Amino acid sequence: MSTIVVFGGTGYTGGNIVREAASRGHQVIAVSRSEPTEHVPGVRYEVGPAEDVAARVVPGSDVVVATLSPRGDMAGRLVETYAELARLAAEAGARYLQVGGFSSLRPAPDQPRVVEGEIPEPYRAEALEGEATRVLLAERAPDELDWVFVSPAGGYGSFAPGERTGTYRVGGEIALFDAEGGSNISGADFALAIVDEIDEPRHHREHIGVAY
Ligand SMILES: NC(=O)c1ccc[n+]([C@@H]2O[C@H](COP(=O)([O-])OP(=O)(O)OC[C@H]3O[C@@H](n4cnc5c(N)ncnc54)[C@H](OP(=O)(O)O)[C@@H]3O)[C@@H](O)[C@H]2O)c1
Repeated sequence: MSTIVVFGGTGYTGGNIVREAASRGHQVIAVSRSEPTEHVPGVRYEVGPAEDVAARVVPGSDVVVATLSPRGDMAGRLVETYAELARLAAEAGARYLQVGGFSSLRPAPDQPRVVEGEIPEPYRAEALEGEATRVLLAERAPDELDWVFVSPAGGYGSFAPGERTGTYRVGGEIALFDAEGGSNISGADFALAIVDEIDEPRHHREHIGVAY
């Protein structure tokens, strides 16, 4: 059993991870600024900004999972916040899994990352900020930090929660596509992949993608 802190543990991504991890008997701490509307039995909820709560919940944890979103008043603040979470995780000797965006992947080998091309305006800022959080780990992570940056499929999101199928594939920085050329993963299956990676660490200081 591990102690896992999920920053953004009441959100779409974080909520699924919290449920999956708690169902496997892990000790889970979920951090969010607002009071949760749903309490998963056994989960400890810490309410407050990640920046303030981190220093008291990261020490003593085995794994830190970062699932904040760069929206609302967090727009433009994710890199500085994640830099602090990464620093504290390294200090605590905790593994650090950070969820980013699909657009940090490359559509094919030797091609630029999706984010380097045309991104529709409504998604552009979030894609760029997600990419900046990847660069943070790739270029500035503390040497001793055991990190994984995880890109979900292109069709992933709260607008398409899908079902738990119990299946997923893990790729590297080249995006995975299904037989029809689609890029999808349900919220529950994405969480399954994250908690499997926690239970059996297979990637270290790497960018991975999760899709069907
Ligand atoms: N296809 C894709 O590439 C794709 C699709 C969706 C999401 N994503 C990425 O996945 C990540 C998570 O997105 P999501 O849609 O799951 O997010 P979400 O549902 O909006 O959840 C965000 C969570 O973070 C919490 N939060 C935000 N700022 C916080 C702060 N300063 N301190 C503490 N808690 C804070 C929120 O709760 P409070 O507001 O109560 O604090 C909430 O629990 C993001 O990086 C996003 O870009 C990628």
